[in-house]
Amino acid sequence: MDRILVTGGAGFIGSNFVHHLIGATEAEVTVLDKLTYAASRESLAGLPESRVRLVVGDVADAAVVDPLVAEHDAVVHFAAESHNDNSLRDPSPFVQTNLVGTFTLLEAVRKAGVRLHHVSTDEVYGDLELDDPQRFTEATPYDPSSPYSSTKAGSDMLVRAWVRSFGVQATISNCSNNYGPWQHVEKFIPRQITNVITGGRPKLYGAGLNVRDWIHTEDHSSAVLTILQNGKIGETYLIGADGERNNLEVVQMILRHFGRPADDFDHVTDRAGHDLRYAIDATKLRTELGWEPAYRDFESGLAATIEWYVAHEDWWRPHKEAVEAGYAAKGQ
Ligand code: NAD
Ligand code: TYD
Repeated sequence: MDRILVTGGAGFIGSNFVHHLIGATEAEVTVLDKLTYAASRESLAGLPESRVRLVVGDVADAAVVDPLVAEHDAVVHFAAESHNDNSLRDPSPFVQTNLVGTFTLLEAVRKAGVRLHHVSTDEVYGDLELDDPQRFTEATPYDPSSPYSSTKAGSDMLVRAWVRSFGVQATISNCSNNYGPWQHVEKFIPRQITNVITGGRPKLYGAGLNVRDWIHTEDHSSAVLTILQNGKIGETYLIGADGERNNLEVVQMILRHFGRPADDFDHVTDRAGHDLRYAIDATKLRTELGWEPAYRDFESGLAATIEWYVAHEDWWRPHKEAVEAGYAAKGQ
C-alpha cells in the first residue's frame, strides 16, 4: 500500500494516525478533511511535505471523493462528527457526515476497487451495567443510544452490506474512548485538564460513576495499521487496552497531578441518555493479529497528556471560552 487516503486526518485520532503511518511505513498519505471546528492544521505540522498532502473537502461530496479515492491503494475512514453532546443539540451534521459521508466513500471504493478500513466506536453496542462481568465483543448486538452512536452504528451496517452485496474489500474496527494530544477541549479529559489550568473546576456529569475504557490514541493508531495490513476482509475487530476507569477517578487523577484537593470539582447536569459503562474485550485483535498496546499504565499516559496540554496552551486556548459558554448554557 503505497498511497493511503485518510479521511478526517486533521482531527484528533486521524492526525495521530497520520503521524503513526509516516513513522511506521513508507506510504504517501493524502488527508481529506472538511476542516470543521474539530480539525486543526497544526496537528499535521512538521510532517514531510513530500509524503503528506491535505485536500480540504467533504467526504459526502462524490465529486471530490470519487477521483481522489481512485488515486489511492487504500482508504482509512476517520471523518465523522464525533461528540455525543453536540449530537443531542443538533443531530443533522451527524446524519450527513457519518451516514451520507460513509455511503459516498463506499460507492467510491466500490467503483475504484480500493481497500477500505472503517473506523468506528464501541458506543454502537450501547452500554453495560457497572457490575456486568461481560465486556463488549464482536458478537455483541448493536444497541446504540445517542444520535452520534446510532449514526456510527448505521455507518458500520452500510460497510457490512457493501462487503456482502458488492464485494467491497473492507474491514471495521470499534475502539473505546481515546485520550492523548490534539483532542478538542469539548471532550471529557481535555475539558477537565484545561478547566484546572484556567483556574476553574472539573465538571462531572451526574455522580461521575459512568465508566469509560480509556486507550491512548497511539495504541488506537497501531491497532488500525495492524488491521489495515493484516486484517481479514469483511471482519470487525474491537480495539481496547483494558483501561476501565470511572469519570470521578479520572477527575481525581487530574486534580492530584496539579496538587489540588480531591473534592475540588463540580457535579453538573447529567447528559440525556448517558451511557453507563463501556468495556472492550480485544481478544480477537490480540490473538488473531498479535496486536498489543504500548500504553499499559493509564495514570502515566494521562500525566503525559496533561503535560502536553500545559505545553500547548496556544493551541487550545482560543477555543476554550466558547466551549465553556456552550456547556454553561446547558447547566454543564
Ligand atoms: P474529531 O471530531 O476530533 O475529528 C473528526 C475529523 O473529521 C475533523 O478533522 C473534521 O474536520 C473531519 N470531518 C468532519 N466532518 C467531515 C466531512 N463531512 N468531510 C470531511 N472531514 C470531516 O474526531 P476523533 O475523536 O478524532 O474521531 C475520529 C474517528 O474515530 C471518528 O470516526 C470516531 O467515531 C472514531 N472514534 C473516536 C473515539 C474517541 O474516543 N474520540 C473512539 C472510537 C472511535
Ligand atoms: P466524552 O469525552 O464526551 O466521550 P463519550 O461521550 O464518547 O464517552 O465523555 C466521556 C465521559 O465523561 C462520559 O461519561 C461523559 C462524561 N463527561 C463529564 O462528566 N463531564 C464533561 O464535561 C464531559 C464533556 C463529559
